[in-house]
Amino acid sequence: MRVFVTGASGFVGSAVVQELLSAGHQVLGLARSEESAQALRAAGAEAHRGSLDDLDSLRRGAAAADGVIHLAFVHDFAAYETAGQTDRLAIEALGETLAGSDRPLLVTGGLAGFNLGRPATEEDKPIALPRMSEPVALALATKGVRASVVRLASSVHDRDDHGFVPTLISIARQTGVAAYVGDGHNRWPAVHRLDAARLYRLALEQGVGGAIYHGAADEGIAMRDIAAIIGRHLNLPVASKTPEEAADHFGWMARFVGLDMPATSVLTQQRLGWHPTQPGLLADLEQGHYFQS
Ligand SMILES: NC(=O)c1ccc[n+]([C@@H]2O[C@H](COP(=O)([O-])OP(=O)(O)OC[C@H]3O[C@@H](n4cnc5c(N)ncnc54)[C@H](OP(=O)(O)O)[C@@H]3O)[C@@H](O)[C@H]2O)c1
Repeated sequence: MRVFVTGASGFVGSAVVQELLSAGHQVLGLARSEESAQALRAAGAEAHRGSLDDLDSLRRGAAAADGVIHLAFVHDFAAYETAGQTDRLAIEALGETLAGSDRPLLVTGGLAGFNLGRPATEEDKPIALPRMSEPVALALATKGVRASVVRLASSVHDRDDHGFVPTLISIARQTGVAAYVGDGHNRWPAVHRLDAARLYRLALEQGVGGAIYHGAADEGIAMRDIAAIIGRHLNLPVASKTPEEAADHFGWMARFVGLDMPATSVLTQQRLGWHPTQPGLLADLEQGHYFQS
């Protein structure tokens, strides 16, 4: 299959590109700079110059492919609504190009926003959406697009991670405390980047329109356990912050740190034959590479 991948130069996207190429697919990767284009070519993919703000570039990429994986996202948490709007317009542009073709379009969603007190399943509907990619993609599934959603765990981990966990580590370094909120029993799901990449490939190859897949290998790790490992590796005290103190301590991350968002991927594993094989988040943290500065 010739696959158009947005976010192909990113942390998750570069692993997805490798996974697709290793399985014999061709990759056309969106690149908004010459640097990203060169990295894609070096990896064995074709570069497609464009950006999320240039909807025609997205339409051209989708038109030239047998399927699309959408991973690019503007990670500006200070302007999160604008980032969500950019994401929605991008998915709609990709979808209108694929409409009526039954070609696969895989979009990236999230696992925050359930608050069920138990692990969310693929059949649960979020009460608050971390972003609009999910309903936008599901609407496209009624228009002849084989659109499906990968709800990614809040921590996709591996070497070179620059997501939430490295941010927690950096906050601990700056403040001198490895902190959690309240009793710290709130849970975060996690998935290794290489397992996530295999999930995207399997969902592209076998996924059905309108499906939700969960990219979660660890169902839920207590935030207190994450803070404990950070404290031990940095030789810092581990402490609780009240919800009121959290904003000051964690800055923009305060809205995520206290969330309880466990998620199961049992149905995903059954439906796609996906079986995570890489180390979990705590084992990955124990390897120490997160703490080399
Ligand atoms: N990493 C995690 O822990 C995690 C957890 C949950 C969900 N996710 C989601 O997974 C997806 C991939 O995340 P990631 O960690 O791989 O992100 P990343 O490393 O920050 O990469 C972001 C990718 O999006 C591209 N991009 C950003 N703004 C763009 C724009 N305006 N136009 C075109 N391309 C643009 C970047 O291109 P350049 O190379 O040109 O910058 C890069 O390829 C995102 O949707 C993210 O929200 C990630």
